[in-house]
Amino acid sequence: MRSKLDIKVSKPEQMELAYLTHFLHADKNGSAKYYSNPAKEYLQNLGEENILKDKDPDQLSFPIEWDVPFPPPEKPKFKFIDLFAGIGGFRLSLQNLGGKCVFTSEWNHFAQKTYEANFGEVPFGDITKIDEANIPDHEVLVAGFPCQPFSIAGVSKKNALGRKHGFLDETQGTLFFDVVRILKKKKPKAFLLENVKNLVSHDKGKTFIVIREALKELGYNIHYKVLDGKYYVPQHRERIIIVGFRRDIFGGKEEFQFPEREEIPFALEDILEEKVEEKYTLSDKLWKYLQDYAAKHKAKGNGFGFGMASMDGITRTLSARYYKDGSEILIPQERRNPRRLTPRECARLQGYPDSFLIPVSNNQGYRQFGNSVVVPLMQAVGANIIKELEKINAGNSTKSHSGCTGVANSIL
Ligand SMILES: C[S@@+](CC[C@H](N)C(=O)[O-])C[C@H]1O[C@@H](n2cnc3c(N)ncnc32)[C@H](O)[C@@H]1O
Repeated sequence: MRSKLDIKVSKPEQMELAYLTHFLHADKNGSAKYYSNPAKEYLQNLGEENILKDKDPDQLSFPIEWDVPFPPPEKPKFKFIDLFAGIGGFRLSLQNLGGKCVFTSEWNHFAQKTYEANFGEVPFGDITKIDEANIPDHEVLVAGFPCQPFSIAGVSKKNALGRKHGFLDETQGTLFFDVVRILKKKKPKAFLLENVKNLVSHDKGKTFIVIREALKELGYNIHYKVLDGKYYVPQHRERIIIVGFRRDIFGGKEEFQFPEREEIPFALEDILEEKVEEKYTLSDKLWKYLQDYAAKHKAKGNGFGFGMASMDGITRTLSARYYKDGSEILIPQERRNPRRLTPRECARLQGYPDSFLIPVSNNQGYRQFGNSVVVPLMQAVGANIIKELEKINAGNSTKSHSGCTGVANSIL
């Protein structure tokens, strides 16, 4: 079906493929209307409009045999959107919880390629060019937006909090602003945002103040915490997680808690491949360079060099620059130079199952997993969010049964 429909991600901003694949995933009374016209036009241009014959014109959803490893759930429990989607770490986590993704955006076409191969959907491109009115309704928004400074430089924390003007203004021109405008228009019941730990201290804490206050101004009650992926995968990876619940629905009384774990259940050796090609072993030249570099820095008193991992421990944080020399996580080998991780091992280090396809070069693969989230950690956070949505849902259906005016009695 994919080859028949010419679904090949080869360059950024292939909007027609984004429309088509979103339409293929859409449901009749929900998101289909957002995607149907451009999708039908695409099929007509391709001479495949007959695919629509005998189908409800508003819904292509012909019984698709999804030939991707992670198709949408058949009976979704909630809808979400996936912004700054990368390769879909959040999507995997939330699909595992029964969520159905109704919109996704990611502008890097290598990441789009991996995303499509695994989920059968091509993300829309640059989020700054997408009108929020064209995004379908959803219960949960997820985003790992890039961190950028805001313009409150020179304003002390105290003054900043007492300001007359809203914090929403300050977010203009940043990618966080795109999250803000979508939240403002679509008002999902909850959101889940992820970022590097340094977001909290960035620009002496001002960036985080703007983010927090802007989200509150939008009518959300905020929970945030730095969480470490090491309780889910053998990798030290601290990230700030920000979760919000609409105050007008939850009244600020949601019982949401971040997952707490104390045991580190895995060691590096649990995720290593048995047979690894020679090309992953560092060349003598690179290994010498890394050792000399580390020695030079040690002499200067700053200890950062390469990171030789210990098999029964956990690794340092995998970064998007791992493809350069692999120096932050090296695997010791007997009587040989150390080696770097394979892309599959990087996938495992982020909690991706082995059925996750890696259809790009090794370099792109390293970048993509280095940028990604720890899937089981996000799933654990997501599960606690969904628990709160279900409580509200149950509460509303009880109210409607007893004759009170309930809001929608399904989270869908
Ligand atoms: C930190 S990564 C998110 C990774 C993702 N959470 C995952 O699990 O793979 C941020 C992503 O935002 C994308 N991005 C940056 N600016 C964008 C824009 N204007 N529109 C769409 N995507 C953008 C980047 O290409 C990058 O993949």
